[in-house]
Amino acid sequence: MAQLIDGKKIAQEIKDELKERMTRLKAAGESRRLAVIQVGSDPASTVYVNNKKKACEYIGIDSLSYEQPEETTQEELLELIGELNARRDVNGILVQLPVPGHIDEEKILLAIDPGKDVDGFHPVNVGNLSIGRPGYVSCTPAGVIQLLKRSGITIEGKECVVLGRSNIVGKPMAMLLLQENGTVTVCHSRTKNLKEIARRADILVAAIGRPKFIDESFVKEGAVVIDVGIHRNADNKLCGDVDFERVAPHCSAITPVPGGVGPMTIAMLMSNCVNGVLS
Ligand code: GUN
Repeated sequence: MAQLIDGKKIAQEIKDELKERMTRLKAAGESRRLAVIQVGSDPASTVYVNNKKKACEYIGIDSLSYEQPEETTQEELLELIGELNARRDVNGILVQLPVPGHIDEEKILLAIDPGKDVDGFHPVNVGNLSIGRPGYVSCTPAGVIQLLKRSGITIEGKECVVLGRSNIVGKPMAMLLLQENGTVTVCHSRTKNLKEIARRADILVAAIGRPKFIDESFVKEGAVVIDVGIHRNADNKLCGDVDFERVAPHCSAITPVPGGVGPMTIAMLMSNCVNGVLS
C-alpha cells in the first residue's frame, strides 16, 4: 500500500517551527504583520481568510483584516494597497482571490510591493523564481516541494509531470521542480497523449481542476502522486483531481484530499510572512 503523505501533520510541524522562530524574533524586538484584504463575501474566500488569520494568531504574527464591500471600486482597492505598501509596520499584504468581476485582478497584483507580496503572485517574484533568484514563491507549489522533501522523496533526476499550467500552481510548480533538478513536463487542456505522458511520471502533480479526473490508467506503478485539486461532490464531501481509491494501490506515495496539499498552502504563507525572502 502507498505511503500516505500527511499534509496536516507536516503543515503543523512547519507552523510549530515558525511559532518558535517568531518567539525568538519577538525576543529580539522584531515583529511581523500581515494585511489580509477580502473584497466581497464569497463564502469559500471567507473560510480561507479566517484560516489565514487563525494561523497568524497561532504563530504570533499580527494580522490586519480588511473586509471590503463587494462594491469597492478598483481605485479604492488600489488606494488601500498603496497605503499598506507605505506602512513600515506591515511586512506582508495579500488580496484574497478571486476579486469581483469589476476589478482587474492583474492591476491589483501588480500594485502590491513585490517585497510584501507574500503570495508570490507579483510578476517580479514570478520572474525571480523563473531565473532562480531569491523572491517570494507561490504558497501551494512551495508546499508541494516541502511535502516531498519532508516525506523523504528525492526530486533530483526524477521524471516530474505537472498537469495544469495556471499562474498560481502549474507554472511555479514546474519551476520549483526544475530548481530541484527534476526533469519536468507540463501538460494542459490542449496536450495530446496526456495519459501517455502522465504515465511516464515518477512524480505526478495533478492541478487540473476536475474532480477525480485521474484514475489508475494515468499512473505508472510505484509513482508518487500529489493531488492539488479540491472539489465538493454532490454529497458535500471533499475530493481532489485524483480518484484516490483507484489510484492509491498503484502508488509508492500519495496525498489525500482533504489533509494533503491544502494545509500546506497556509503553512507556506506563514513561512513567507515570518522568514521573508529566503535565498
Ligand atoms: N485564492 C485561492 N488561493 C489563493 C491564494 O493562495 N492566495 C490568494 N490571495 N487568494 C487565493
